[in-house]
Amino acid sequence: MSEVVNKTLNIGICGLGTVGGGTLALLTDNADEIRRRLGSDIKVTRIATRTLDGKDLHRVETVSSDVFDVVNDVDIDILIETIGGYDPALDVIKRALSKGKHVVTANKALIAEHGNELFEIAQQNKVVLAYESSVAGGIPIIKALREGLAANSINWLAGIINGTGNFIMTEMASKQRQFEDVLAEAQKLGYAEADPTFDIEGIDAAHKLTIMGSIAFGIPLQFDRTYTEGISQITAEDISYAEELGYCIKHLGIARRSGKGIEMRVHPTLLTKSRLLANVGGVGNAILVHGNKVGATLYNGAGAGAEATASAVVADLIDLSRHLNSGAQAPLYPALGYWEMDEETPVLDIEDIEAEYYLRIPAVDRVGVMAKISSILQDHHISIEAVIQKEAISETVPIIILTHTAQEKQLNQAIAAIEALDDITGKITRIRVEPFHGEAT
Ligand code: HSE
Repeated sequence: MSEVVNKTLNIGICGLGTVGGGTLALLTDNADEIRRRLGSDIKVTRIATRTLDGKDLHRVETVSSDVFDVVNDVDIDILIETIGGYDPALDVIKRALSKGKHVVTANKALIAEHGNELFEIAQQNKVVLAYESSVAGGIPIIKALREGLAANSINWLAGIINGTGNFIMTEMASKQRQFEDVLAEAQKLGYAEADPTFDIEGIDAAHKLTIMGSIAFGIPLQFDRTYTEGISQITAEDISYAEELGYCIKHLGIARRSGKGIEMRVHPTLLTKSRLLANVGGVGNAILVHGNKVGATLYNGAGAGAEATASAVVADLIDLSRHLNSGAQAPLYPALGYWEMDEETPVLDIEDIEAEYYLRIPAVDRVGVMAKISSILQDHHISIEAVIQKEAISETVPIIILTHTAQEKQLNQAIAAIEALDDITGKITRIRVEPFHGEAT
């Protein structure tokens, strides 16, 4: 085959932390392979970083301490935003797009919360804002949803999309390690967000689910409508009771088309141990996507860390470079996968969903308590699938109930009524169960 000679593209990187540093290293390590795939070189001509910290800058020509030096550099074709957070990253992206630069970002918070506006600016300026690395690290899930599954109407997707949370839950369950100890290790390994509450309280996962849900269903990005619950309330007791019942607890993001609208929710979830997602451990991410023609498909891999995330950043860079070298003027595809967005279908309130539930009810061990609980559940049309009563802890006995499908609003009312009983000694723990009815998943 004859050799393709394309233009060498100039790249600027803003932010040289875990992802930016990983990107620079990958471009050097895999330079030959990338050149063969692209038919030209990728040259990092300018970097902006506040601290060099002994980093190896390879063959970068210019280093600035001001990120706007990269934005204002007229020779740069593509800007990589790996600063993270909101300020100054949002301004950097807006200004770069407005100046006609293509941008590759790993910033899920910005895409989830400001993406509608940013994609609009990109389109007006006929440039691309690429964001593969913003969701699930090295797994090419954006490409899969937007291109690979484009022939389908997506029914649902469900995934483990926070590596830190999954690492913590896996270590706690398998090695009986303490929460803080595992979190510190995740931070050291570069998995955790700068503010780890984003990982633990589900915000990071909600950003990613918002992005995937939008691409799956062609709806505008609606982070504020995504229900978000983290892992900080999960106790070792719940992990162990769930195990006795044949389940494990995973922190899942679920987006589903239902009769009434679209469910977008992030929360701890009981999964039967034999399910595919139940067996994804450590920092691994995995996303199941169900299309109406293809059925269930699974994407699995490293969801965090310098090299895995850099893999997705550089994939975007290669895509964009091919696009630029093809001479095309306009972006090749709609940023969120649809030229016609669905502005009508609502994202449902969490109280409007239906699910199965695990309840841990702390009760006084006396005659008639179970009858009262059953009666309240019956009044709210909630049917019981299984009950176990554990040994008393001091005065309190934990009653564990698994319900059949119920409406969340009814369940919340039932929980309030049960908690009001004299026999109940504390708050009821409620964890949703995902049965994946009828699916070979
Ligand atoms: N803190 C994130 C995680 C990094 O743990 O998954 C990748 O987004």
